[in-house]
Amino acid sequence: MEIIITSDYEDMSRVSAEYIAREIKNKHDLVLGLATGDTPIGTYKHLINLHNEEGLDFSKVKSFNLDEYVGLAPLHVNSYNYFMRENFFKHVNINQENVFVPQGHIDDPEQFSFWYESQIQKAGGIDLQVLGIGRDGHIGFNEPGSSFASRTRVKALYKQTIEDNARFFNHIDEVPRFAVTMGIGTILESRKILLIANGRSKADVVAQFIEGPVTSQVTASALQLHCYATVILDEDAASKLTRKEYYNWVRDNKHMVQKRVGR
Ligand code: F6R
Repeated sequence: MEIIITSDYEDMSRVSAEYIAREIKNKHDLVLGLATGDTPIGTYKHLINLHNEEGLDFSKVKSFNLDEYVGLAPLHVNSYNYFMRENFFKHVNINQENVFVPQGHIDDPEQFSFWYESQIQKAGGIDLQVLGIGRDGHIGFNEPGSSFASRTRVKALYKQTIEDNARFFNHIDEVPRFAVTMGIGTILESRKILLIANGRSKADVVAQFIEGPVTSQVTASALQLHCYATVILDEDAASKLTRKEYYNWVRDNKHMVQKRVGR
């Protein structure tokens, strides 16, 4: 895992957007996995700026979102479909036909999950998956105990996730109890993974998934098994890491590492 520690949220957002932009420039028809939540909002803003100011072209990009609440229609203000439209899709030149967000307002979410996996396969797999992390260590909505082999499916949300996400709803009882989410197995098949995290509230879980054991109790720790995972943090989220000096040295001397492995 490559760990990049940036100074603050703004810096984390800029560096992660530049990372994503580089991947799009290298492969115009990039298959991009996307996340919702507070964390990537700044990254999306920077990507929108890169589109407006430097012509970053999304016309051939395909996107697959990680998850959606079961029971919320795509136009519901708390749905992830709505979030993505408002915070990103409507501001760039992505082709609507190339946008895939799980549907939660359907009769048969299980059947939908199989279809969603088949669309990812049809697109040739995900080139770069962007992730946030929940305070319980989840990626997507893969709550503690999720199998590392899991595929897109319906998952019951953990109490802490429901409490954390209640801030977006009028009342905690309105927070859906289930979500459709890509599985850990689905996520690990992505060619590259980029996880971003900021703030002190994420410091404990960030230290656990990077420096602790690989365990389904902290599902983000599955990234330790991936050969091309990058983590971009702000200082606060990185504050409980014990090997910060080492990560910073690697970041600052990356050109030497790259020369050695010929990347
Ligand atoms: C959202 C998702 C979740 C969030 C996580 C962190 O699509 O997959 O795993 O990334 O809950 O959310 P924020 O960024 O709001 O702290």
